[in-house]
Amino acid sequence: MQRSLDLGVRVVDTAELYGFGRSERIVGRALAGRRQQAFLATKLLPVLPVAPVVLQRARASLRRLGVQAVDLYQLHQPNPTVPLSQTMAGLGRLLDDGLVRHVGVSNYSLHRWQQAEAALGRPVLSNQVRYSLVDRSPEAELLPWAQRHDRLIIAYSPLGQGLLSGRYDENHPPSGAVRRSSPLFLPDNVARARPLVDALRQVAAAHGATPAQVALAWLVRRPNVIVIPGASSVAQAEANAEAADLQLSDDEDAALCAASDAFVPVGGMAALRGLARRQADDTRAELRQRVGALADRAAGDPGGLVGGLLRAARQAGRQAARQAAGGVSRAG
Ligand SMILES: NC(=O)c1ccc[n+]([C@@H]2O[C@H](COP(=O)([O-])OP(=O)(O)OC[C@H]3O[C@@H](n4cnc5c(N)ncnc54)[C@H](OP(=O)(O)O)[C@@H]3O)[C@@H](O)[C@H]2O)c1
Repeated sequence: MQRSLDLGVRVVDTAELYGFGRSERIVGRALAGRRQQAFLATKLLPVLPVAPVVLQRARASLRRLGVQAVDLYQLHQPNPTVPLSQTMAGLGRLLDDGLVRHVGVSNYSLHRWQQAEAALGRPVLSNQVRYSLVDRSPEAELLPWAQRHDRLIIAYSPLGQGLLSGRYDENHPPSGAVRRSSPLFLPDNVARARPLVDALRQVAAAHGATPAQVALAWLVRRPNVIVIPGASSVAQAEANAEAADLQLSDDEDAALCAASDAFVPVGGMAALRGLARRQADDTRAELRQRVGALADRAAGDPGGLVGGLLRAARQAGRQAARQAAGGVSRAG
């Protein structure tokens, strides 16, 4: 975070949900003495977003962040079970008291965003949604409306969770539960994304940049779009900040749009089946690893409890096999 601020990054986005408050505390420590340099955004997880709860949760976020006010307070998800009027009453009060400078939403449809504005009686500045070359759904309604009405689209997962960096292929998937359970990283979809990643590589080569930087530059070219890439190292944070200086031509933009249009990922039941297969493979691999570790322990301590249990299990297995064979020969 320190390096990003040094390089001119200004939007810092966190949420009470991230690390159950830990992320806000880390952001607060990083911003100590530099609060004025950041446009600070956090999010409320709307479990029961009635006015008193909204007020109490906002104050808790401010305490963790160590600040008097945040620049943007966003509703992390829609909650259709609580009337927007109740939630917005709380947010309006936070605006009036100066604890929050702007209100935003996240993962809202256009209709619900407009309903939120009507309930607040003031602009709801931004909608934070998934937006990248692998998912351009915000272009249908959200972005044109934001551009017409001077609102913002905050693009999350702007690198398609790292898929657009070109680091991954069918044989080298990313690790970590989040991406292993994402349909985007199914082998079929990673293969289908190859022409898009190649198009990014081609543009990147012309600028001495990386595919990830071009993916970000493509987004920030769009009026009223802000990107919040996640970085897993200082080097990535530096590269992402540098992407702000990359100027793509209209032809390059058009080539990337065409490659993005041609990317049609596997979805629906086929994706669910792929994810279930991946889950089963991961579970099998984990079990194998655990049994291997147990066998190692047993080898080091043949007379011990683990060795005894493993011997008993093997014996039971052999007995069951003998009984099954007897049954077969009797049946025969
Ligand atoms: N509002 C919401 O509901 C919501 C939902 C999801 C995310 N978000 C927010 O959006 C932020 C970003 O989204 P995200 O993390 O899901 O996806 P992302 O920004 O598309 O991808 C981040 C990943 O891409 C790789 N990467 C980043 N910079 C790179 C570079 N310069 N070169 C190569 N690889 C690079 C890193 O992974 P590897 O190096 O491991 O490949 C990094 O973890 C999150 O931090 C979160 O704050 C919000």
